[in-house]
Amino acid sequence: MFLSSRTIFVGLCFLFVLAPCFTRATTNEVQVSCDSHNFNNGKHFRSCVDLPVLDSFLHYSYVRETGVLEVAYRHTNIESSSWIAWGINPTSKGMIGAQTLLAYRNSTSGFMRAYTSSINGYTPMLQEGPLSFRVTQLSAEYLNREMTIFATMVWPSNTTVVNHLWQDGPLKEGDRLGMHAMSGNHLKSMANLDLLSGQVMTTKAANDNMLLVKSIHGLVNAVCWGIFIPIGVMAARYMRTYKGLDPTWFYILIL
Ligand code: HEM
Ligand SMILES: *[C@@H]1O[C@H](CO)[C@@H](O)[C@H](O)[C@H]1NC(C)=O
Ligand SMILES: *[C@@H]1O[C@H](CO)[C@@H](O)[C@H](O)[C@H]1NC(C)=O
Repeated sequence: MFLSSRTIFVGLCFLFVLAPCFTRATTNEVQVSCDSHNFNNGKHFRSCVDLPVLDSFLHYSYVRETGVLEVAYRHTNIESSSWIAWGINPTSKGMIGAQTLLAYRNSTSGFMRAYTSSINGYTPMLQEGPLSFRVTQLSAEYLNREMTIFATMVWPSNTTVVNHLWQDGPLKEGDRLGMHAMSGNHLKSMANLDLLSGQVMTTKAANDNMLLVKSIHGLVNAVCWGIFIPIGVMAARYMRTYKGLDPTWFYILIL
């Protein structure tokens, strides 16, 4: 009787201590929204959008006065033998005229290559070339089935809405960039991007709420443990001396 109660108690302790760890792990895994993402290179962006197709996210910071736009285009659930691309089309919508950033993993060296290419038709070679705006600090990484392109670009000041597009496709023999699929989502991967949009506000509000929820949770946790553990310990220490009350001390402990 005594041993089995003890076992149950220890089991319950483990459950209470470990359960939060497991729930955390699963929420990190099923990433529902971009604002919970932390870049492991420490980069931080003011806003982000969950793009509607192709498991993609755009993180960005934009300074209207200077026109400096910092972006990270992130594509989750992707094979290392794929290329990814993100771009802005200053002249129309869709692929033709797009000024793109591309990245893929070199299959020989294993290093990521990131470069720029301007697209002027539906059979592009995607060779490296300059864009119609300045791009600096271009880099890419591939980690945990996630491929990300980082870049900083300079737009004319006061630019507010742009047409952007994103894509993925297969890497062929010799690291040639093969054509992307022509099915639904690969033709829907374009949208307006409002650089000044409420995104900044809503993202921040969501973050603050999340922080508040976490703080309250932490507080409640601390209070519960701070009160119930001492009560449990005291109950165990003092009530066990009364031999006749053997099962009772255990119930008090649990409560
Ligand atoms: C290997 C090079 C590529 C080839 C051969 C190619 C070919 C094509 C073709 C033929 C279409 C028209 C499909 C249709 O309307 O039925 C198309 C659409 C599209 N492509 Fe590409 N593409 C390539 C690279 C890219 C890149 C690098 C991007 C992205 C940033 C991109 C983004 C898009 C988008 C968003 C559409 C749908 C909108 C539109 O028709 O313009 N493509 N592509
Ligand atoms: C991949 O890396 C190898 C070795 O560094 C290099 O010789 C080759 O040109 C690269 N290929 C591409 C397509 O970048
Ligand atoms: C950008 O917008 C601000 C506020 O609307 C204005 O004062 C400024 O002159 C504009 N700058 C340019 C370069 O158009």
